[in-house]
Amino acid sequence: MDIYSRLINRENPLPKDFVPEDLVSCEFPFLAAGSEEKRLLCSAAAESARRLIEYGKSFGCHLAGISGYRSYARQQEIYETRLREAGPEHVSRFLAPPGASEHQSGLALDVSCPSVHMELDESFAETREGRWLAAYAPMFGFILRYPRGKEHITGYAWEPWHIRYVSKSLALYLALTGLTLEEYHRI
Ligand code: DAL
Ligand code: ZN
Repeated sequence: MDIYSRLINRENPLPKDFVPEDLVSCEFPFLAAGSEEKRLLCSAAAESARRLIEYGKSFGCHLAGISGYRSYARQQEIYETRLREAGPEHVSRFLAPPGASEHQSGLALDVSCPSVHMELDESFAETREGRWLAAYAPMFGFILRYPRGKEHITGYAWEPWHIRYVSKSLALYLALTGLTLEEYHRI
């Protein structure tokens, strides 16, 4: 099985020392500066996201990257801070423990847009960008990884801003069937 279709979740974590070999800095609008770790993605995901966001412009969509690659150490830092500040209930719904985040694979990207002030919350889904992304992401190899109504399967709350690169053929298959990555791996 290739890395793009790999299932990464609490039950299937990445090794602590896993670092993707082909991380590159994203060449599309991004909230973080060029030198920041979160601006990195695996090359195939970075190029596909660039083309996705560029295509979106022709529909009047102004998508921007917020967070791409996160090292194990960075996820641990975020996890511990949010646990302190927001508590265990929030963390269990929205944040993967270190090792269990797709962001460590360099294949996941959080996106937002100016009309919701670049926030990552449910209001993004109601924007032009959020609606467009849900329809067009699979054409560029991405899936909305944590859909509404599938929380009991993915183990996370609805995250309309989190896209995961899985390759174009798999993304189109999952879009057509409505399967999550968990369900695809169960078949
Ligand atoms: N927000 C997703 C689940 C993560 O922390 O990877
Ligand atoms: Zn995310």
